[in-house]
Amino acid sequence: MNEMERFPAACRVSVAPMMQRTDRHCRYFHRLLAPDAGLYTEMVHAQAVAHARDGRFLKHHPAERPLALQLGGSDPEALAQATALAAGAGFDEINLNAGCPSSRVRVGRFGACLMHEPELVAECVAAMRERSAGRPVTVKTRIGTNHQSGFGPLLAFAQAVQEAGAAALAVHARIAVLEGLSPKENRNVPPLRYGMVYRLKDALPNLRVIINGGISSAAEVSAHLRRVDGVMLGRTAYANPWLLAELSDPAARCPGRQHALRAMVEYACHEGQAGSSLGAITCHMAGLYAGQPGAGGWRRALARHAGMPAGEAGVLLECAPVHARRAA
Ligand SMILES: Cc1cc2nc3c(=O)[nH]c(=O)nc-3n(C[C@H](O)[C@H](O)[C@H](O)COP(=O)(O)O)c2cc1C
Repeated sequence: MNEMERFPAACRVSVAPMMQRTDRHCRYFHRLLAPDAGLYTEMVHAQAVAHARDGRFLKHHPAERPLALQLGGSDPEALAQATALAAGAGFDEINLNAGCPSSRVRVGRFGACLMHEPELVAECVAAMRERSAGRPVTVKTRIGTNHQSGFGPLLAFAQAVQEAGAAALAVHARIAVLEGLSPKENRNVPPLRYGMVYRLKDALPNLRVIINGGISSAAEVSAHLRRVDGVMLGRTAYANPWLLAELSDPAARCPGRQHALRAMVEYACHEGQAGSSLGAITCHMAGLYAGQPGAGGWRRALARHAGMPAGEAGVLLECAPVHARRAA
């Protein structure tokens, strides 16, 4: 990938935006494991980005790149303003959320209900591109909603964002049920229909299409990559982050879990000077030994030490499972 193409949607594997998960500490951890994966922030409303005087929603470590800021909103001007700030802050891609099914979001006229308004989304994308200083603008969506679930509307939506200049479309291969299901149920109940995403890629070969939803193994990732341009992993990447290392280019791969742990201890000690608590950083590391002997003990140790100052992170080196410490 050349420098111009170093943005998350250009990566073969990326970690999905997840509220209360993919904060800057989580992304730093994922980056250690996966040097070549695309990373996304949690969704932030465009108005919040535009009005935060301290730039707190744009804070990130340069090591996190290639990194995308995910914006929520449907006001082209506010989205454009937030995009300009994000580009100035060094984000490599700005992503518009058109897939969140939460009722709160729907009241604000953004998220998944935007699938019903392709022209407005196109207007938003065009406005964002004007202020993105050449950074790619992308959209994350679903295959439809309970009001509009056929292939025709998905294709029309994708065409509209492509014509407006979106560099990629990430598609969660489920419909969003806009009434009656919680956001959590909306991630599990509607069936996965990967065929719709493949069909979209076949219909629009020039659009970069990223598939998302329920993908949980390296074998599944490889199979999807034969049909689409990229794979976005959400819950699996969070629960079993070592999978990200296994999916990385062997030449750049993280040498081992203990290496990642030591690097995170160093990071936490540094963050401790800024007042972070240890738990705010280590909560994202609970899955580091997922599937390994001693994984439960590791999780319990993290919980026990969560209230300590981050500067005391060194204690965690003794909490890793014994076999991992011996092997390191
Ligand atoms: C806790 C949580 C928070 C999420 N927050 C966001 C978000 O901020 N923006 C977004 O586009 N999707 C969000 N999602 C949806 C994920 O990006 C992804 O589309 C979904 O989890 C399906 O992928 P998966 O099956 O690989 O987890 C969230 C998912 C979870 C589990």
